[in-house]
Amino acid sequence: MSNRRDFMGMALGGFTALGGIGALYAMKRTWDPLPSVKAAGFTTIDLKDAQENVLVTEKWRGKPIFILKQSKEMVEKAKKSDELKRLIKIGDEYYMVAVGLCTHLGCIPGYDSGKQSFLCACHGGQYDSTAMVTKAPPPRGLDIPPFRIDGTKIVLGEEGPEYKKMLADGITMKV
Ligand code: FES
Repeated sequence: MSNRRDFMGMALGGFTALGGIGALYAMKRTWDPLPSVKAAGFTTIDLKDAQENVLVTEKWRGKPIFILKQSKEMVEKAKKSDELKRLIKIGDEYYMVAVGLCTHLGCIPGYDSGKQSFLCACHGGQYDSTAMVTKAPPPRGLDIPPFRIDGTKIVLGEEGPEYKKMLADGITMKV
């Protein structure tokens, strides 16, 4: 619980630049957790109750992890921009799972569900809903943590075949 508060504190710090109760409320909603289990460097998260376009933030090995279930429209957009390869397919659903640290200098970007994009308040970097960078200075999309799919669950910290393929295809780098 204290870890969650730590993230909240960091995120709220970044958000003071933007201000607004609406923004704070939107940020809080991203902290609503999914069932998860942490053990020996692995974090197992059950995604079956995840909601489309509602960002969930978890923690894995001291890092914030963003999870965003994609709506049908988001998936179509990702197909058009050739970013579907960044998404993780579990059953019939697609999820963006990424380390929530800006690839520029490591701030925590905030998610705007209306614009379906991430904004990094530190230097104005932006990412789309697949966490691919859309506005510099970040040099690349958010990094994808090692993962293994287990039914409706995702196990962070284990390298499953889908993650190994992403690495081999150069879609992400090791974190
Ligand atoms: S740290 Fe995110 S844009 Fe610089």
